[in-house]
Amino acid sequence: MSNTSAHLFSPLRVKDVTLRNRIGIPPMCQYSAVDGMINDWHRVHLAALARGGAGLVVVEATAVAPEGRISPGCTGLWSDAQAEAFAPVAAAIERAGAVPGIQIAHAGRKASANRPWEGDDHIPHGDPRAWPTIAPSAVAFGANLPRVPREMTIGDITRVKSDFVAAAIRARDAGFRWLELHFAHGYLGQSFFSVHSNQRQDAYGGSLENRCRFLLETLAAVREVWPERFPLTARFGVVEFDGRDEQTLAESIELARGFKQGGLDLLSVSIGFSTPAAKIPWAPGFLVPIAGRVRRESGLLVASSWGIDNPRIADEAVLSGHLDQVLVGRAHLANPHWPYRAALELGVDRAAWTLPAPYAHWLERYRA
Ligand SMILES: Cc1cc2nc3c(=O)[nH]c(=O)nc-3n(C[C@H](O)[C@H](O)[C@H](O)COP(=O)(O)O)c2cc1C
Repeated sequence: MSNTSAHLFSPLRVKDVTLRNRIGIPPMCQYSAVDGMINDWHRVHLAALARGGAGLVVVEATAVAPEGRISPGCTGLWSDAQAEAFAPVAAAIERAGAVPGIQIAHAGRKASANRPWEGDDHIPHGDPRAWPTIAPSAVAFGANLPRVPREMTIGDITRVKSDFVAAAIRARDAGFRWLELHFAHGYLGQSFFSVHSNQRQDAYGGSLENRCRFLLETLAAVREVWPERFPLTARFGVVEFDGRDEQTLAESIELARGFKQGGLDLLSVSIGFSTPAAKIPWAPGFLVPIAGRVRRESGLLVASSWGIDNPRIADEAVLSGHLDQVLVGRAHLANPHWPYRAALELGVDRAAWTLPAPYAHWLERYRA
């Protein structure tokens, strides 16, 4: 699979959805919801991001069940009222020319935490805001998240899979056209895969096949209800930076092939975050070659993020064939019009990107 002439501002077609460029805004929790319900903060934030020119805007990790929230401020899709509140947001993103996406999630053993700016740690036991956590095994993450989760029964596993399905149906009905399953960052899906968190002796633990089972079964169940014409994607941490990276990466590529067979349309390649002992070699675009390997060896379309806020690095990631889509997160919080800046810096023709007229007119005229 080669990108040959593709670059940051060429359109990307996935299934029946065409993104205006290769810039995606990855999910970014705002920790500002109440009982999982979005409010004006989310409405304004998400519409502003879409107006900035990215091809895709993915709504933050949205819990499929109350116990799957990272914090009490996380958004949810476990009720119809929550889905109804999301519908105008999906429409506003679409009206601004971006594809509306949402990430559905279960935080597993990392749930029941304080907001990052209020400690980023587990809410203490006995605090009325705390709730019991579940995970593949009764093993804590450690460090700032020391609470030991309850080991999930087969009944729990079945229920969480059906929670993902119900949330996918609500996302579909709310008007989202891009669905992302959150299987990354040490949350529930990732923790079934990772040997750091999965010590089960049954069909969901031990061998690679067993550790992949929850993820592939969840994908299969969601595939049944998510429309064939819309992209079904997942985010997964392919590497932990824990000293056993070659093995983890080889296993991740096996899983990615399983995802492809199971009908996944694109993989958002990220980091596992399954152990606080990880030593992550932060540098601009450091994950890009790893994502490129996953792309080559799995045959999946691939997106990735982490420090790709320099337009030239972003463009090169697509030109070189490593990524099909570049996810730019924090740089969009700093400047929702990052794509405009990138287009200017790369000398991209006006016709290849879009800003709404009330901005485009003045920016064209004065090159602000
Ligand atoms: C405020 C904030 C919230 C985030 N929330 C999520 C999330 O909900 N789901 C997720 O998969 N990643 C989340 N991330 C990770 C981002 O999607 C992204 O991968 C990360 O910020 C690296 O990209 P960047 O260097 O362009 O910011 C979050 C990051 C930030 C800064």
